[in-house]
Amino acid sequence: MKTTITQPCLRQLSAVMLAVSLFAFTGCAQVPATKETAAQPAALQPIALQSAPAQPPTAGDLQRVVNEAYAKFKGDTSGKNADYIPYLASVPSNLFAVVIVTADGQVFSAGDIDYAFSIQSCSKVFTMCQVMEESGEDAVVKKIGVEPTGMPFNSVVALGMHNNKAVNPLVNCGAMASVSLVKANNAAERWDKILAYQSKFAGEPLKLIDEVYKSEAATNWRNRGMAHILYNNENLFCDPLEACDVYTKQCSIGVTAKELAVMGATLANGGVNPITKERCLESKYVPRALAVMMMAGFYDESGAWAYNAGLPAKTGVGGGIFAVVPGKMAIVGFSPPVNDAGNSVRATEAIDYIVKELDLDLFGSLK
Ligand code: DON
Repeated sequence: MKTTITQPCLRQLSAVMLAVSLFAFTGCAQVPATKETAAQPAALQPIALQSAPAQPPTAGDLQRVVNEAYAKFKGDTSGKNADYIPYLASVPSNLFAVVIVTADGQVFSAGDIDYAFSIQSCSKVFTMCQVMEESGEDAVVKKIGVEPTGMPFNSVVALGMHNNKAVNPLVNCGAMASVSLVKANNAAERWDKILAYQSKFAGEPLKLIDEVYKSEAATNWRNRGMAHILYNNENLFCDPLEACDVYTKQCSIGVTAKELAVMGATLANGGVNPITKERCLESKYVPRALAVMMMAGFYDESGAWAYNAGLPAKTGVGGGIFAVVPGKMAIVGFSPPVNDAGNSVRATEAIDYIVKELDLDLFGSLK
């Protein structure tokens, strides 16, 4: 019987083959040689994942998919604004924007693109980059970690399970650890440096949304508690209340969907802002940052996101999400209602739609 193997099957098959070949070179080293295991492994043959090189999307294609994603998901009212930061509950739930910024600085947008929302956890990526830029990638790996927790972004259980270490810069504990690793003599200097660095990625001076900051600062007992546990275990590197407060300010930075997309496009462009042409991050750190985003950018939904869309991305509880297509573009969705994991429903849908329309999954074609 003749069997047809489709592209999605090949994609999954290649992942299985990779696992099998890794096992062949590592796990089998422990097994005594038998008739079967003594045979030399055959050289791996390259697997063609794409039948033909895809044509890069035109400007018309990019504006079309942005318009389509906006129109298709505008009416989806599922999810609910986060309300554990009281201010966020008051942000209009119907706001919705979709933006693409390419690695050469072209902008395609639809919807509420001028509304400045709080960047929240999307900021964690850039402070992680700041630590790499200032202290090298080892600082992040050794002092924080790069493992996904598989748990919610504010999980105390995850902290307890990992010897009171954050293990990832994109959960709250790891983000406060990143803030504490930024070299500064006092809280004001730490905040100024972080705001300036995030602004460099956006290509324009970003500002604190004071109401968001005040609202979170008045209610962030859980983050303050976790900061103290980290500090008590030498996994936070400045005064814990300073780290938590500067982290809270960092999360309260206002960005428009376009500004967030420029920040993402800077990573897509190897660390150089495509609008200002300023280098924000050494190119060798960009793949490291994207790897952490791929593994943990959607928290406990990171596996599903990788399976469905195959792009490094980061979400924020203010409703913003940015995804990076290395060398090509960043895609941003913004809409305040989030799901149980704290990820914007409409933004996830819009980005996922664009990934599939333009065939952008990094692991191969899903068609
Ligand atoms: O610390 C917090 O809980 C918020 N400032 C950030 C959380 C967040 O954005 C989670 N993301 N989806």
